[in-house]
Amino acid sequence: MTFKSGKQSFQALKGIDLEVKSGSIQLLMGPSGSGKTTLLSILAGLLTPTKGKVCLLGHDITAMSRSQLAEFRLHNIGFIFQKFNLFPALTASENVEIVLKMKGVSDKEIKKEAQHLLTSVGLADKGDVLPRDLSGGQQQRVAIARALAGSPKLIMADEPTAALDSYNGHAVIELLARLAKQEGCTVVMVTHDPRIVDVADRVVSLEDGILQSRASTS
Ligand SMILES: Nc1ncnc2c1ncn2[C@@H]1O[C@H](COP(=O)(O)OP(=O)(O)OP(=O)(O)O)[C@@H](O)[C@H]1O
Ligand SMILES: [Mg+2]
Repeated sequence: MTFKSGKQSFQALKGIDLEVKSGSIQLLMGPSGSGKTTLLSILAGLLTPTKGKVCLLGHDITAMSRSQLAEFRLHNIGFIFQKFNLFPALTASENVEIVLKMKGVSDKEIKKEAQHLLTSVGLADKGDVLPRDLSGGQQQRVAIARALAGSPKLIMADEPTAALDSYNGHAVIELLARLAKQEGCTVVMVTHDPRIVDVADRVVSLEDGILQSRASTS
């Protein structure tokens, strides 16, 4: 991946070759500016690489048109951001419902499924609460419920614990890992947090845009 602006160009990723095993939890680590967000954005189809290709679930997403890619992402990828990115004017339940609606879940199933998802993240009684009235950890759990809506096969998360204290951060990761295993999801997660290594099947590290393989934990 090379970023260009005017005469300046900057190669943010160099010769990346990464295979993520289906159903596994893959961590991306590395110092600030090493290219983690850039790589995750490319893997999730949010950014088009200058060269190379990305295959997800057997589909070459780099060969897709914009609309094909949007459709593919909607149905196959749940994305969790560092800063939760909930809709502030919607309740916890509505934040999940809107995604289910976009995914074509029938109106009569939507409420039930949203309640089920919120229950699975331990927020059964918070459905009617607005994000601003939830703690950071609770907001991130709503974001996890939303990312899991419609059972996507792939979950991508960019430092999902960065805005949380260490207790909530760890709880959120354990929950995500448990739900992902239950659902058979593949998870690719960027993190700075060395304690999260415990839940991972594999850890790779980026340094100056180059991928360094590290010892696997299982
Ligand atoms: N749109 C862009 N245009 C130009 N350069 C960019 C752009 N996006 C990222 N970069 C550069 O690419 C490099 C990698 O950035 P990236 O955001 O992927 O790092 P990161 O590993 O996620 O860092 P952090 O841990 O701080 O989030 C940085 O040097 C950054 O300045
Ligand atoms: Mg980043």
